[in-house]
Amino acid sequence: MKRLPTYLAAAFFGMAFPAANAGDVAALMQGCNDCHGEGGVSQWTDVPTIAGLPEFQHADALYIYQDEARPCRDAEYKQGDTSRAAISMCAVAAKLSEDEIDAIAAAYAELPYVKAKQEFDADLAAAGKALHDEHCDKCHSDEGTNPEDEAGMLGGQMMGYLQQSFVDYKADTRDQPKKMKEKIDALSDDDVTALVNYYGSVQ
Ligand code: HEC
Ligand code: HEC
Repeated sequence: MKRLPTYLAAAFFGMAFPAANAGDVAALMQGCNDCHGEGGVSQWTDVPTIAGLPEFQHADALYIYQDEARPCRDAEYKQGDTSRAAISMCAVAAKLSEDEIDAIAAAYAELPYVKAKQEFDADLAAAGKALHDEHCDKCHSDEGTNPEDEAGMLGGQMMGYLQQSFVDYKADTRDQPKKMKEKIDALSDDDVTALVNYYGSVQ
């Protein structure tokens, strides 16, 4: 059977997927969801929720993985065929074309962001909120949940993933905006713990 023209498939799928075939994009996203959770909403603390991630920041993250400008740690598949070999985000991104990256980022941006239900320490969260309001809110508004900031989703993001992100930023093994680096470098380990609890408290 002949493939539907892309514009028809896109209309059928209910979203515009420039250049990349809608069916292929849906299949690729299923592969992502086998680690990131159904609809891109994670249930595992070491894996970030990618549903609702701002479009340009998501695409950018995938290009950064292609450039290996972020750590390339192997991760296990969490669901679906879990006998598949562990794979890093760098290896995942390396297989994607530019059109596929743009289509995937656009599609996840349309999906609802769901804040994780996590345990947190209320005192630490209060200390973290004060740090956030002073140093981070300018670029991460609305408790770090405003997609228009194009700066990731922090409030309600998985705490294990956030903790790892701070370790990577501090070790300078993850690409980051220059103005943010100044702020991150100034954080103590206790500050980081407080911030992680604050973002976890946003539910
Ligand atoms: C084998 C598991 C696995 C698969 C498959 C996978 N991911 Fe990931 N992904 C992770 C893990 C774990 C992290 C966080 C740690 C890291 O950077 O390795 C991550 C991080 C990310 C991030 C960074 C989030 C941020 O806020 O910066 C994005 C974006 C992402 N993945 C998108 C995708 C997309 C899109 C796909 C499918 C094309 C995909 N992932 C497939 C496990 C996976
Ligand atoms: C000058 C603007 C700016 C400031 C100030 C700033 N950030 Fe960011 N931050 C960004 C941008 C832009 C990104 C997205 C970068 C990227 O995709 O590589 C980001 C990404 C992040 C991420 C990763 C999100 C993800 O999805 O993985 C974390 C965590 C983070 N910032 C925490 C902080 C904290 C905590 C502070 C305050 C101490 C802070 N930032 C201050 C601009 C800023």
